[in-house]
Amino acid sequence: MKKPSLFGSFLQAGMGLATALMLLFGDAFAQAPAHVAPAFAVATKDLDAPPPAWAYPTADPGYKEPPDDGRVLHVAGSAGSWTLTQTRDAFFATDWHPEEHPQMPGVVARGRKPTVWACGYCHRADGPGGPENAGLAGLPEKYILEQLAEFKSGARMSAFPLKSHATVMPSIAAALTEEEVAESAAYFSSLKPRKLITVKETERVPKTYVAGFVFAAVEGGGEEAMGNRIIEMPKDLEQFESRDTHSEFIAYVPVGSIAQGRELATTGGNGRTLPCGTCHGADLRGVGAVPGIAGRSPSYLVRQLYDMQHGLRAGTGSALMAPVVAKLTHEDYVRLAAYAASLTP
Ligand code: HEC
Ligand code: HEC
Repeated sequence: MKKPSLFGSFLQAGMGLATALMLLFGDAFAQAPAHVAPAFAVATKDLDAPPPAWAYPTADPGYKEPPDDGRVLHVAGSAGSWTLTQTRDAFFATDWHPEEHPQMPGVVARGRKPTVWACGYCHRADGPGGPENAGLAGLPEKYILEQLAEFKSGARMSAFPLKSHATVMPSIAAALTEEEVAESAAYFSSLKPRKLITVKETERVPKTYVAGFVFAAVEGGGEEAMGNRIIEMPKDLEQFESRDTHSEFIAYVPVGSIAQGRELATTGGNGRTLPCGTCHGADLRGVGAVPGIAGRSPSYLVRQLYDMQHGLRAGTGSALMAPVVAKLTHEDYVRLAAYAASLTP
């Protein structure tokens, strides 16, 4: 059994992040250390800031998903046809390209009623996932097993303000049989991740709304300033909503962030963090049980950095990430995620 995070219990006790950090670490967190290089000398001011809202797209209260008219869907390159109703069934993984992956185990394809939704419903048939969850294709088997155990024990939580998002994996993981755990981990780790994300540096970004759980451009809505954010969206919303595993994404990031992220990731930024390649491999594609972060959803990566920095994700493996995230600012999140996402998985 994993002991609950000290930090987590402070937070549960209703204490502010800043107070909890001061209690735990004294005022070491109040100032940036003197030796930090100018480029990364931003004070660690963001430690008590709430999670960056852009990394957790949440539909406006007035948003209604397009009505289910039962129409039959098709996607390019697939002879398959599924109804909209089928693609929205949580106990069914829409499989547009069955020839591209081994046969899905039952838990991935159909789940098990009433609690275990099909893994492939959210993570898709061959595990590319989307910005709203996580890509699973090619993650180390041991790592997947550990994560499922940590969702179940409560060591891994999320700051996602949507209750459904924060609780879906813990409740599914708690309901899985040992066999389902083993089969799903073996299946997803056997798959090869594909490069599906284009990272684009820009000063202006299309105005967006949140279509359920992902950003989409407002038609004719013009542009707005990029700011220190990552705006990740499907290139084709309809294809994404059809759960086509070939869906691609564009992640708009601030100008210069990829190079700044590379610098921080490779050098550690003069003690601001640790070089990522030491554990994630020089190409950031993962080593042993350490997951790859190359080519993965930058929104997902930022949520994990935040969760690990704030003791919400506090499992055995994430202890190794503690010194990595301790001093990161929200600007660093953007830089690191922009760089990692720009790489080939
Ligand atoms: C309702 C949607 C949904 C379903 C169904 C679902 N997941 Fe997830 N999964 C998520 C979300 C959302 C996250 C990201 C959680 C976070 O940010 O901490 C996630 C994260 C994960 C992770 C962590 C990935 C990483 O890189 O650390 C694993 C492993 C995982 N899921 C496995 C599974 C398995 C196995 C199944 C089927 C038994 C499953 N999931 C079913 C939504 C889902
Ligand atoms: C000392 C080893 C070590 C270093 C250095 C390191 N990591 Fe990690 N990282 C890990 C381990 C181990 C995990 C898996 C954590 C777990 O099991 O929960 C991880 C997980 C992650 C995750 C979550 C991945 C997922 O699938 O959910 C992200 C994001 C991440 N690291 C980013 C980075 C970045 C960015 C850097 C460099 C700035 C970095 N890491 C440096 C060991 C390290």
